[in-house]
Amino acid sequence: MANLDSWRGKWALVSGASSGIGEAFAEELAAGGAHLVLTARRRQRLTKLRRKLRSAHGVEIEVLAADLAESGAPQEIFAFTEKRGITVDLLVNNAGVGSYGEFRSSNVECELGIVQVNCSAVVHLTRLYLPGMVERRLGDILIVSSTAAYQAVPYMATYAASKAFDLLFAEALAREVERYGIRVCALCPGPTASEFQKAAGVPDEIVVNVEPADHVARVGLRALAAGEHSVISGFTNWVGVEVQRIAPRRLVTSAAEILFRPRQRG
Ligand SMILES: NC(=O)c1ccc[n+]([C@@H]2O[C@H](COP(=O)([O-])OP(=O)(O)OC[C@H]3O[C@@H](n4cnc5c(N)ncnc54)[C@H](OP(=O)(O)O)[C@@H]3O)[C@@H](O)[C@H]2O)c1
Repeated sequence: MANLDSWRGKWALVSGASSGIGEAFAEELAAGGAHLVLTARRRQRLTKLRRKLRSAHGVEIEVLAADLAESGAPQEIFAFTEKRGITVDLLVNNAGVGSYGEFRSSNVECELGIVQVNCSAVVHLTRLYLPGMVERRLGDILIVSSTAAYQAVPYMATYAASKAFDLLFAEALAREVERYGIRVCALCPGPTASEFQKAAGVPDEIVVNVEPADHVARVGLRALAAGEHSVISGFTNWVGVEVQRIAPRRLVTSAAEILFRPRQRG
């Protein structure tokens, strides 16, 4: 549990805490003695997790159901913590959605929802919580990006672009605010065991080299505590990204197209 003690006795806000990596963040942080604000749309999942973590670790936990596809949700979440006098010292921007298939026939609401949840809500929540952190000269922000951030991904075009946004946003902010003692880090997982692939409609055969969500969450929290600006979870994922850096971009995108191409296509 090295480094995860950084947030003992402090409040951490985890978005997308109802499953997968977000639930794993909640478990890791509670085990390290952090108090939690858990948010996602599925309230029942959150209250069940609250019961479990409270009895296992004796930390305080607040739950708020909010839909980050709604533009007002970040302000609602901020107002919720303000009203309760909760000082959020760790913001984990984890909630995220994806979609799979040809963009031309995609559901436009779904594509716009990806941009709203993965990008706009991240910017908004960060903008709301960061000034207080700077004022206190204390605070950490983890933004969950993806290895999809490092190249274009045909058939997941909007998703990969949204994760590239998250990575660059986090890295820029990290540099801007380190002088105030604030740490910001982008966590870039590769395929991870969660509900993400099914929700996004990604075919099983594309999902290989899957890492457990608790491992991925630990990698992110450790990197944040160590002052890293970004981290790729998993050695194989790291090698994949590094190899791509020296290859021509067009070649990399062509390889991704072949890998992600829907099987039934001619
Ligand atoms: N799994 C992977 O292979 C993988 C790889 C790289 C990066 N990631 C990133 O990891 C993060 C966590 O995903 P995961 O893998 O843990 O998937 P997951 O199990 O599907 O969890 C996604 C979380 O986001 C929440 N969420 C989705 N839409 C939301 C909305 N409109 N408003 C509020 N919350 C919403 C979900 O809660 P509700 O449904 O209850 O709202 C859920 O708690 C995402 O940012 C994802 O892009 C995942």
